[in-house]
Amino acid sequence: MTKVAFVGLGVMGYPMAGHLKAGGHDVTVYNRTKAKAEAWVKQHGGALAESPRQAVEGAEIAFSCVGNDDDLRGVVLGDDGIIAGLAAGSIYVDNTTASATVAREFHGLGKEQGVEVIDAPVSGGQVGAENGLLTVMCGGDEAPFARAQPVIDCYAKAVTLMGASGAGQLTKMVNQICIAGLVQGLAEGMNFGMKAGLDMEKVIGVIGKGAAQSWQMDNRASTMCKREFEFGFAVDWMRKDMGICFEEARNNGARLPVAALVDQFYAQVQARGGKRWDTSSLMHLLAND
Ligand SMILES: NC(=O)c1ccc[n+]([C@@H]2O[C@H](COP(=O)([O-])OP(=O)(O)OC[C@H]3O[C@@H](n4cnc5c(N)ncnc54)[C@H](OP(=O)(O)O)[C@@H]3O)[C@@H](O)[C@H]2O)c1
Repeated sequence: MTKVAFVGLGVMGYPMAGHLKAGGHDVTVYNRTKAKAEAWVKQHGGALAESPRQAVEGAEIAFSCVGNDDDLRGVVLGDDGIIAGLAAGSIYVDNTTASATVAREFHGLGKEQGVEVIDAPVSGGQVGAENGLLTVMCGGDEAPFARAQPVIDCYAKAVTLMGASGAGQLTKMVNQICIAGLVQGLAEGMNFGMKAGLDMEKVIGVIGKGAAQSWQMDNRASTMCKREFEFGFAVDWMRKDMGICFEEARNNGARLPVAALVDQFYAQVQARGGKRWDTSSLMHLLAND
């Protein structure tokens, strides 16, 4: 049993922390909106803390999963923050999708007091978090990764060290860039098929076994055709992730023409009231124009 802390009990963090508890660990939780932390403790047991610092005091491994870079700085820095509460020899694993810059900043700050920091963004969505089957992409040093991996395993199907601090976030950026163009292509294909009068369930069944197959086709093509968007990975989050990718691309010189175009389509989805719709809502723009 490891003494762990979890900060940020949102759509992702709440079930992830639950899997840590179910895995036999001693879990203390903190959430900005206290009612969620109270509900979590009622459901899973464990302890509730009044601040990120209090949550991580005495923890061998601290976890977080909040929104963006600014939210992360809010729970990590300062007198009540995670870094202030962690003792030398402990590990901090951040599951937020954030910039590689903030990951490296925390890694450096941690080193100053003997705390090892691992950036560990996840893929697999709400369902992956609830089933404990996330894919976790890590950046950091090998020795703390080896210590943290068996604990991260509680909510993951695959946990991989990608390289030095920031490499986990960079890998997640590649993931999001690949998804952006793919989802637009899928939406265009589905819309075209519907306009052509095809039986789309039949089409998906056939081409889903060929070269056009993808996770998005398996999990989103059918709901796209039914215009179901009120679930899944929110457009707001995707635009946040695209912003992180563009900032990184400005530094490394990579060109992202399709991602930039799709980002503008997502801005249009937001303007239509789709901020919390699933990213497959790119279909809404085609089907309703
Ligand atoms: N949802 C997905 O399918 C998915 C998939 C992969 C990766 N991610 C990434 O995982 C992260 C979390 O996503 P989510 O869907 O769990 O989001 P969410 O449901 O909105 O939860 C965000 C959590 O962060 C907390 N938080 C936000 N800003 C804060 C601040 N300034 N100070 C303290 N706490 C703060 C929230 O507290 P409150 O309860 O008080 O609001 C909440 O617990 C994001 O980086 C997202 O991009 C999400």
